[in-house]
Amino acid sequence: GSHGVMKMTVIGCGYLGATHAACMAELGHDVLGVDVDATKIESLGAGTVPFFEPNLDDVLKRNIAAGRLRFTTDFAEAAQFGRVHFLGVGTPQQPTSGAADLTALRTAVRALVGQLRGEHLIVGKSTVPVGTSAELADEIAALARHASVELAWNPEFLREGFAVDDTLRPDRIVVGTDPGRPDSRAADKLAEVYRAILDEPTPYLTMDWATAELVKVSANAFLATKISFINAISEICEVAGGDVTALADAIGHDARIGRRFLNAGLGFGGGCLPKDIRAFAARAEELGVGSALSFLRQVDEVNMRRRTAAVAMVERACDGSVLGRNVAVLGAAFKPESDDVRDSPALAVAAQLALRGARVAVFDPKAMGNAARGFPTLRYAESAPAAARNADVVIVATEWAEFVHMSPDELSGIVARRLIVDARRCLDGDSWTAAGWDYRALGSTVDG
Ligand code: UGA
Repeated sequence: GSHGVMKMTVIGCGYLGATHAACMAELGHDVLGVDVDATKIESLGAGTVPFFEPNLDDVLKRNIAAGRLRFTTDFAEAAQFGRVHFLGVGTPQQPTSGAADLTALRTAVRALVGQLRGEHLIVGKSTVPVGTSAELADEIAALARHASVELAWNPEFLREGFAVDDTLRPDRIVVGTDPGRPDSRAADKLAEVYRAILDEPTPYLTMDWATAELVKVSANAFLATKISFINAISEICEVAGGDVTALADAIGHDARIGRRFLNAGLGFGGGCLPKDIRAFAARAEELGVGSALSFLRQVDEVNMRRRTAAVAMVERACDGSVLGRNVAVLGAAFKPESDDVRDSPALAVAAQLALRGARVAVFDPKAMGNAARGFPTLRYAESAPAAARNADVVIVATEWAEFVHMSPDELSGIVARRLIVDARRCLDGDSWTAAGWDYRALGSTVDG
């Protein structure tokens, strides 16, 4: 009766792992989510996603109710539960080198492998430096005393805000296997796991470990480069004149370039692009080919300069200093439809302005809790108008739909001065100007 249903675990139930576990259950599989964090496991087990992600709550609840999805902190249980084990633990940035920290990954492997019996497939999903699979495979071979364990690397390309959809309807599935085992069944076994997705159809790309690891970081490096490219051009537009949005539209018509990820503004943040380009560059250095990726340092620099430029634009708009000024910052999340504030450009700008003596009031539709934990000294307002009350300047720092569609008239009577800095270039400037506002967009010709 259980046609195509497989038993599997997902180890590491953060953003990636929780989404993957819920989506594998949605495909009909029997899934056990595993994490060392008991609070997280308790929350997920009760059907509550511990972060904001559209639709994930529904998928989680539905599959728990259907009996296809459970959670545990017990690795012995995980070892017995199934024969396929996904690794979705975090690989954060090390503070000084920028390299990826693989401690959690190694810990998870050690906790699992010693307890395995029989034949198992471990599938890495975390973003890792090239060479990690080969290294982990050696460790696994040493640890697997009573089992035959294969390792595959299957990078994840989901975006926050679209995590469920990206997992169930991915652009492609990439699987890297041991190049020393041409007889490996790992790719076939994984194809079984993803059968329902592959039937859509979805390209299924098999390759060796190193290539699969590199596909992931190359994709993110390319995306980051695309964003910094358009932001670099916006620096030119600022001084030479020119509309970087019209320019992006025009070059984007060339299918080889494409319009997506060409939105100039405050640049990229979040838990992935910034850390991934730094880790990739650090890995290239370790491999003795640092110069190959030295441009990623510039991609990073262009990106960080947008934050400085936004602060400078606000200061100029405030006649040179924000000291004692009321500044409303609309947006705290690193992007809309997310409550994630990791490396958030919006909060970096808010913090810089506060440091320069501004009285900053922040509002975000979803990220207030996370923002307040990371930046407890900023003031948080309960709505956009509340943040804008008596403001000398309003900054749009994350392009939430509710800010994009905000009517200027809604704020006109509330603010001290009708001055708006559109750091995401997401507003209809003409309508703000028509309503009597001084409208300034980051990346456009510098204001007087
Ligand atoms: C990114 C990638 O897009 C995913 O494919 C990848 O799987 C994920 O990282 C990961 O490695 O886990 P995500 O961090 O969720 O996804 O966010 P993006 O939608 O890529 O946005 C990243 C940042 O770039 C945001 O701060 C966004 O505001 C900024 N951005 C994006 C721009 O400044 N301009 C653009 O045109 C597009």
